[in-house]
Amino acid sequence: MRIRIAPSILAADFAALGDAVAAAQRGGADLIHVDVMDGHFVPNLTVGPPVVRSLRRVVEVPLDVHLMIEDPDRYIPAFVEAGASMVSVHVEALPNLDRTISFIKSLGARAGVAINPATPVGSLEEVAPDLDFVLVMSVNPGFGGQAFLPRSTSKVRAVRALLDRAGSQAAIEIDGGIDLGTVDRVVRAGAEILVAGSAIFHAPDAEEATRALKAAAEQAARAASASRA
Ligand code: DX5
Ligand code: ZN
Repeated sequence: MRIRIAPSILAADFAALGDAVAAAQRGGADLIHVDVMDGHFVPNLTVGPPVVRSLRRVVEVPLDVHLMIEDPDRYIPAFVEAGASMVSVHVEALPNLDRTISFIKSLGARAGVAINPATPVGSLEEVAPDLDFVLVMSVNPGFGGQAFLPRSTSKVRAVRALLDRAGSQAAIEIDGGIDLGTVDRVVRAGAEILVAGSAIFHAPDAEEATRALKAAAEQAARAASASRA
């Protein structure tokens, strides 16, 4: 397992975004997670490609752009051009998911598919061999600061099993309610990319919070591999 911590800027102070991501990077952030919402697919609005472009200039790690929008194909090129290295799209928004995955890859980014809490794992079956990562939503998308949905842990296990059956090495990303209280169980279930908004940017010290979350995740990963051995 390769643990990666992806602080979500949704919980950061947008007037001091550069300082917020710098602190997270000093604490060991492996990615910066950018939540894009359109007020249609989810009942909230956030940011677009200009913010990704500004972040790209100051962030050293890859930008992980989570598109919670309708008709993502229309906007994917703008996000990749602005500097997104990873792009995830929601299965619920796309009737032709495989075409969108190929499209993201053709632009040179890593392609991920996100699934909402009520979406069955089986919806990934046909596209599993083509994915670079799967994003399991552990809250309903739209807002930061929600409580982790406990069933997400078994969902991560089921996604890992599906990917393994398909011969896929795709990593599982988990998003929503990840903190020091939930990280252990999701990593043991197979999550490797951990998105955290409130747990990092609402903490008194984002650098220290990132470091602590990463240490806890790495400890859980070591425990998981010891128990498999
Ligand atoms: C929710 C977003 C998340 C959000 C997570 O729709 O996809 O990335 O920022 O926030 P926390 O970590 O506060 O649950
Ligand atoms: Zn997200």
